Amino acid sequence: MSDLRSNLDSTCPVLTTFQKECDTPTPFLRNIANAIADDMQAGLAVEGGGDLKMLLTYVDHLPSGNEEGLFYALDLGGTNFRVRSVQLGGMEERVIVDTKSEPVSIPKELKTGTSKELFGFIASKLANFVANENIPARFRLEEGRKREIGFTFSFPVNQTSIDSGTVIQWTKGFKVSGMDGKNVVACLNEAMEAHGLDMQVSALVNDTVGTLAGARYWDEDVMMGVIIGTGTNACYVDQKDAIPKLQSISSSGTTIINTEWGGFSKILPRTIFDQEMDEANTINPGEQLYEKMISGMYLGEIGRRVLLQMCESSHLFGQSVPVNLSTRFALSTKDLCKMQEDKTDDLLIVGSILNEVLEVEANLEARRRVSQVCDTVVKRGGRLAGAGIVAILEKIEKETKRLSSGQRTVVAMDGGLYENHPLYVEYMKEAVFELLDDTFASLIAFKHTKDVSGIGAALLAATNSIY
Ligand code: GLC
Repeated sequence: MSDLRSNLDSTCPVLTTFQKECDTPTPFLRNIANAIADDMQAGLAVEGGGDLKMLLTYVDHLPSGNEEGLFYALDLGGTNFRVRSVQLGGMEERVIVDTKSEPVSIPKELKTGTSKELFGFIASKLANFVANENIPARFRLEEGRKREIGFTFSFPVNQTSIDSGTVIQWTKGFKVSGMDGKNVVACLNEAMEAHGLDMQVSALVNDTVGTLAGARYWDEDVMMGVIIGTGTNACYVDQKDAIPKLQSISSSGTTIINTEWGGFSKILPRTIFDQEMDEANTINPGEQLYEKMISGMYLGEIGRRVLLQMCESSHLFGQSVPVNLSTRFALSTKDLCKMQEDKTDDLLIVGSILNEVLEVEANLEARRRVSQVCDTVVKRGGRLAGAGIVAILEKIEKETKRLSSGQRTVVAMDGGLYENHPLYVEYMKEAVFELLDDTFASLIAFKHTKDVSGIGAALLAATNSIY
């Protein structure tokens, strides 16, 4: 085998520039956290006031533990769709049985098809699920009572009540037609009716909200829900009297705010690769810029673009450019993270992924460079997410003073990137602890609340039951 090393330029300007532009030193991250905080405040003042939408969720009561009965949950908006039924047994028994359907990945054509097609698909899966379930006598509903659903719909929604709202914009590769100004719940109701399902949505919730509510059921100190998966977002518990745009409606107690932080766009360390990916490969160019630097849908693609440029200008893998490297989304975020996590001296995992995915033989020097690209992308993503978490924790502290009075505060976390990539999480936490006041750090707990958003949605359906 020829020594490819001789084909590598001794320096790699593309890599050095990329690393420099992605750098997020502490003072810069602090500026990001402050800018996010400003946009949060602006979004709380008036609708559309800042990059963060700060959406009202109408979740004013979190689960208490007393919820009882059989409730359903639908989960749409990540990579997979899933149906679930949860038998709630009240304070003593809590969740008695939690039955989940197999996750189904949403066919690509449905993500960009019509609302009728998408909701028809959901209703058919739901019909299939209820046709096959076995309900114990204790949970059978009395005559005339409808089965109630918590619908996790993970997109920005302008909610008008706990069980209605319209899509503000599509994210994560979805662009469904026929829903402009239409109530999401009405779309589902029509499809359920068409499938002969006599069911009723009692709570329409974002996945972050489901996560917070589900986590709160077991831990009263949960104040935030964060998703870092296909997309990213966070919600938190706020005081109603600290939300100017809510004043005309109601002003006492607490409520959950869905920040939709993925829309943040200011002072971000955006490179040419981010810009090109955004313009060429996304369905919503110019939108969700923070999300596109943090979440699973995009990181692999950013890395692929950097590697391609390194091949073209610095002969990363010899004279020719691997064909697969020119294919959009050929490098998944999962593989990018796996390469970043390879800590062996010889970077053999990097080598085998490159071999498998791009069909190239990479020498050690090339593997090192690839590993640096992956690390740069993962580190920037994790640290930016950390800055967002700090902005929200500081907002919670401003309103409640819970940290300064020594109260533990829990951030409920979920999403594929968070779950599967510990080094991403390490970067994220490192950033949080760099920015946060030292005395607060020991009071913050990150809890991986795997897959609780469905239980959270079912609990909120129970809390907001129409009966
Ligand atoms: C996107 C959606 C948001 C969701 C997040 C995580 O950012 O806009 O609503 O919570 O993805 O799934």
